[in-house]
Amino acid sequence: MAENLAPKGLDGVAVDVTSIATTDNSGNLLYRGYRAIDLADRKSFEEVAHLILFGKLPSADESAKFREFLKKNSALGGRIPEIMKIEKQTNLMDSLRSYVSLEPYRNSEAGLLLAEIASKFPQIISSSARINEGSAPLHSIDGSYAENLYYLLTEKKNPRYARFLEKLLILYMEHEFNASTFALRVAASTLTDPVSAIVAAISTLKGPLHGGANSEVLTYLLSFKSEEEALKFVEEKLRRKEKIMGFGHRVYKEKDPRAQFVKIELKKLIGNTDVYRYATAIEEYIWEKKKLPANLDFYAALYLKTLGIDEKFYLPIFACSRVFGWGAHYLEQQADNKIIRPLSVYTGPTGLTLE
Ligand code: COA
Repeated sequence: MAENLAPKGLDGVAVDVTSIATTDNSGNLLYRGYRAIDLADRKSFEEVAHLILFGKLPSADESAKFREFLKKNSALGGRIPEIMKIEKQTNLMDSLRSYVSLEPYRNSEAGLLLAEIASKFPQIISSSARINEGSAPLHSIDGSYAENLYYLLTEKKNPRYARFLEKLLILYMEHEFNASTFALRVAASTLTDPVSAIVAAISTLKGPLHGGANSEVLTYLLSFKSEEEALKFVEEKLRRKEKIMGFGHRVYKEKDPRAQFVKIELKKLIGNTDVYRYATAIEEYIWEKKKLPANLDFYAALYLKTLGIDEKFYLPIFACSRVFGWGAHYLEQQADNKIIRPLSVYTGPTGLTLE
């Protein structure tokens, strides 16, 4: 059996087909055939979410209806706000995992239910954070998905910043068989329900090697007083063979196109400030020494900070967007299903006898 052993972490192994997203030969991330960075530049979050989840860019009418659907379903039902007051969860990914499970949903058709689950994410993280801090939950505003999310996270209405946020959200939406999506596909392959499968994905996204890198990036980026200090920090990390958050990627070995897009947007926001220069110097240094590219999380952290969004929301924001990708994978897995159940190579003892 040992000769059939897949590489550790399934590195380099294609385990199934997908028509949702891929990286093309030039290193572009494609969503259903379109470059993700073009969609981020020119389309709304709702349009791209519709494209990912239902396979087609919506007409103006479909887009308006989808926006309305997300808005209409976004409020938390049942007794969730009351439970949030009793069972405070300080980690917002834990809140998301718990309250996504508890929510009483109205839709039963899988596609609509998946969109309904996704529509609750902004309100869950906002209400949970506010209740933890002793503030009253905010109600959604009448705006786009990104404008509403921006408001729920900052209590401010700022269409310009909401548009910057929207671009990042679009880039977070989908990335083929990443760890959380794969966890979801394993769950979906058992024919479990959408809510249970999304909970598996949230739990997997929480890990620092997947989604949790961005706030750690911010901690070190904001600690430097000079470029020299910044480079010393990474030099020391590399010397000690420690992982530097925000670098490396299973798929992108040269450049992460999303990171490069966000880097340009970030410069529009903060210009050539000290922290921007430290970040680009670190990127160049790590590339030169280790040939590791900056990943999306590297620039996203500073980007979100510049938009005035608190660090505790960084990973939940990622989830607010990726949930549409997860939904698409749930539908794709079940449309052509075989239970995902690999083998293992046993390395433990055999032939032991009981006394
Ligand atoms: N900092 C320092 N070295 C790194 C590194 C990082 N962020 N990422 C990878 N490396 C090194 C590894 O130590 C290894 O070096 P070696 O060959 O000398 O042993 C080599 O690069 C290959 O790394 P590996 O961990 O095997 O790559 P992977 O494809 O399994 O892992 C990640 C990909 C993303 C999990 C990994 O790069 C990582 O942990 N990055 C930091 C966390 C992060 O930013 N996550 C967000 C991802 S979008």
